Amino acid sequence: MPLSITATAPGKVILFGEHAVVYGQPAIAIPVSQVRARATVVAGRQPGVRLFAPDLGVSKLLREEDRDDALATAVYLVKAATHLPNLPDMIITVGSDIPIASGLGSGAAIAAAAIRAVAQFIGFGHLLSNEWVSTLTYEVEKIHHGTPSGIDNTVVTYEQPVYFVRQQPHNRIETFAVAQPLTLLVADTGVRSATKRVVGDVRQQWEADPATFDALFAACGRIALAARQALEAGDAGRLGVLMQENQAVLEKMTVSSAELERLVAAALAAGALGAKLSGAGRGGNMIALVREGEETAVSQALYAAGAQNVLTTVLR
Ligand code: PMV
Repeated sequence: MPLSITATAPGKVILFGEHAVVYGQPAIAIPVSQVRARATVVAGRQPGVRLFAPDLGVSKLLREEDRDDALATAVYLVKAATHLPNLPDMIITVGSDIPIASGLGSGAAIAAAAIRAVAQFIGFGHLLSNEWVSTLTYEVEKIHHGTPSGIDNTVVTYEQPVYFVRQQPHNRIETFAVAQPLTLLVADTGVRSATKRVVGDVRQQWEADPATFDALFAACGRIALAARQALEAGDAGRLGVLMQENQAVLEKMTVSSAELERLVAAALAAGALGAKLSGAGRGGNMIALVREGEETAVSQALYAAGAQNVLTTVLR
């Protein structure tokens, strides 16, 4: 057995199509490679599989019957897939610099990193296709998210942009490549917002006025489709314009907020090509697309406008 195996996975943000994706329109999510979750596995000196998460002050045994524990589930899904009667004694140490509970996919990234590290540690590295890791990570995501869309597990395992359409019987999930590296800033308003609540509120508005909201969702869908083409063509200017258009539609859906709009305006004034909220809205994160070399100026402007945290990520 190897002495130690470490695996990592990135965070994610939704670039286009939030909310409308719930109603069957396409959305695009991208990896945020500069923040990562990591898992390291070493042999244990005591029986069992021990989880150590120093950032959270957690040290505990992961037991196969702990079905509502994400990491226990991740580990025993690997065991089930390998058909091993028992797992060797081991210690899994996890850590992450992906902000938690802010739509950046930290749960999926930790699960994906743990699945990769454990599978490799026990000698089943050959199983580790992206598809395999993504499928297992999806199963782990179900514990806390019920019926997750499948975006997070796909983006964090493939570490590529994903074009996603929620549909029956199977969601359409396509990874694709960007033609040119793109620099994005991800700024946190510091305002926590409950995704479930905002999604529910949009649903109420849609039920009250389906014609208006169906038209807004369809507009988001057209924007996401055009954005995929712009990403594949490396057309940053066009993407910036599309971000503005999507932000305007999201404002009409009432999911923006004063804090988000202050950050969007500050980014644009500092030279960003485009900026919009990302995820559920009414708080959480916004994203800004910047030209190479302009990230410092835009980042400073975002902090000055109230951002609590700004991440820079280059999408390649
Ligand atoms: O902030 P996040 O990454 O959890 O995104 C929420 C995205 C929504 O479209 C608003 C909801 C969903 O389930 O897709």
